[in-house]
Amino acid sequence: KKLAIFVSGGGSNFRSIHEASIQGLVNGDVAVLVTDKPGCGGAVYARNSGIPVIVFPKSKLIPDGLLTEELLTVLRNFEIDFVLLAGFLKLIPVELVQAYPKSILNIHPSLLPAFGGKGYYGLKVHKAVIASGARYSGPTVHFVDEHYDTGRTLAQRIVPVLANDTPENLAARVLHEEHQVYVEAVAALCEDRIVWREDGVPLIRSRT
Ligand code: GRF
Repeated sequence: KKLAIFVSGGGSNFRSIHEASIQGLVNGDVAVLVTDKPGCGGAVYARNSGIPVIVFPKSKLIPDGLLTEELLTVLRNFEIDFVLLAGFLKLIPVELVQAYPKSILNIHPSLLPAFGGKGYYGLKVHKAVIASGARYSGPTVHFVDEHYDTGRTLAQRIVPVLANDTPENLAARVLHEEHQVYVEAVAALCEDRIVWREDGVPLIRSRT
């Protein structure tokens, strides 16, 4: 399968998926990296790995970014099967959601539906989790719809919140699990091991 990964930051989830693909743990190739921050760590890593980098969306700051329809053409030309958001901070346009039904995943660093939505990104998520007194947190992999963090949950991992946690410590503990759970979810997606329950809940079938 052909994968497009969308990144705005350091890209550690992108790297773990790329490495898993090289090791044959994911039956897919990272064909293109899409970013709204052409200088971000993820984009630098992609260029160094020979992965084409596409800038999206077009904005005042990046006038050479692509419009949505241009992005769709690029994804079509790369014959992309699945779109993976990995720390991409812009909302995905509805045209893209509709062009890739049941084929776009995101990873979020909390147990959705808790601590999700527009204001919850980066350390803000972990700060809010600690302030709430929650004893557990952890990453959620979910399908993407046209809103922030509201698509169907595919996989989650539990991470304890410790009594003296800082947002940074908790973020690191959650990020470690993100790398495992995202690779497992993407492996399942690429092997057609996702089963949709009648009520619309996606489940991962284990390898037989
Ligand atoms: C991760 O915490 C992810 O859950 C969130 O953004 C962060 C991206 O980290 N959506 P990285 O760029 O993959 O290192």
